[in-house]
Amino acid sequence: MSKRSILITGGAGFIGSHVVRLFVNKYSDVQIVNLDKLTYAGNLENLSDLQDAPNYTFVKGDIQDKTFLVEVFKKYSITDVIHLAAESHVDRSIEGPMDFIMSNIVGTANLLEAARATWSNLEGHVFYHISTDEVYGSLGEEGFFLETTAYDPRSPYSASKASSDHIVRAYFHTYGLPIKISNCSNNYGSHQFPEKLLPLMINNIVNNKPLPVYGEGLNIRDWLWVNDHARAIDVIFNEGKIGETYNVGGWNEWRNIDLVKLLCKKMDQKLNRAEGTSEKLVTFVKDRAGHDMRYAIDASKIEKDLGWKPSVTFEEGLALTIDWYLENEDWIQNVTSGDYQKYYEKHYSNR
Ligand code: NAD
Ligand code: DAU
Repeated sequence: MSKRSILITGGAGFIGSHVVRLFVNKYSDVQIVNLDKLTYAGNLENLSDLQDAPNYTFVKGDIQDKTFLVEVFKKYSITDVIHLAAESHVDRSIEGPMDFIMSNIVGTANLLEAARATWSNLEGHVFYHISTDEVYGSLGEEGFFLETTAYDPRSPYSASKASSDHIVRAYFHTYGLPIKISNCSNNYGSHQFPEKLLPLMINNIVNNKPLPVYGEGLNIRDWLWVNDHARAIDVIFNEGKIGETYNVGGWNEWRNIDLVKLLCKKMDQKLNRAEGTSEKLVTFVKDRAGHDMRYAIDASKIEKDLGWKPSVTFEEGLALTIDWYLENEDWIQNVTSGDYQKYYEKHYSNR
């Protein structure tokens, strides 16, 4: 195959921007084409440092448009795909599922079709689909999600991701398309849209606003630093087996309320506030509909087969994350300047 040209979808979003940066900087002989619709969650400011990189191209577009995708594959001689573009927020999927169905299911099918239409010889190509641990449903107090755990999605978001995973696997079994899939736990880090738990809480603490904890705050999530997820994607893309699934996680479970309290403590220190100041902002609000109780990833396969493991402890990752948001208040202002305030008021005023 001639020179590699990797299409990264959703590269202007949270995880995508970290993946694009890693690949552009690490693989100077590879062309990286970032295709993104620039929804409310996509922001080119996330990648301003790459503007002049000779191996980087940005293309604005929608994965719901198959004809456009085929043109992109041809124009940029795409050899591989790393597919992250998706509607990603569970609460928004509860309030309006259709965007999730169109982008996450139909959009993924369109990308698969574009690859099938343009890759005449499938040898040497990779179609890598990035997915979530939420496809496995909800755990009780014990146990972990394995790659073999049966799918049991419960929200429109997780059902749309589960559907896309199934379609991607179907293209492997039916057409021999060289696919890989990974299912990752909750990411945290820089450039995450402040509708998600950690940046939302950091922003509200800074602004002395209530910290809305759903239900009793007893739900458990498994947190991984986004840069470590990007490293896992690099390893799976280059060394993972065709047709395989890899679970990615940090062995790092936190009850929401404990995590929010930890964050409050760290923020008090950073902002030179008396201990306990931020915690007073915690407000228990109406629970998320169908709120999954616990997610926990067993990451043994990627650790054993591919030698990947997280590079930072949670303590280190959280400190880096807090510092980034405190140093980049302009970024928060910019990304929330659109319709976000309307969403925020509508979403939280009735809780
Ligand atoms: P994000 O919402 O921050 O970014 C998604 C990006 O996709 C945005 O830039 C958006 O503009 C783009 N996009 C959305 N619809 C599009 C469309 N129709 N056409 C083209 N671009 C479109 O999401 P994220 O948190 O970075 O998640 C990225 C991927 O990783 C998603 O597939 C998500 O399901 C998966 N994932 C996320 C997490 C997490 O904790 N955030 C964990 C596991 C897996
Ligand atoms: O597990 C991976 C998934 O993690 C990804 O696939 C999703 O794209 C990503 O958004 C994330 O989903 P969650 O629903 O777990 O993330 P979120 O940040 O929305 O919520 C984390 C937990 O915090 C969850 O139990 C709900 C709770 N929560 C969230 C918000 C926004 C609150 O208590 N209050 C809030 O205001």
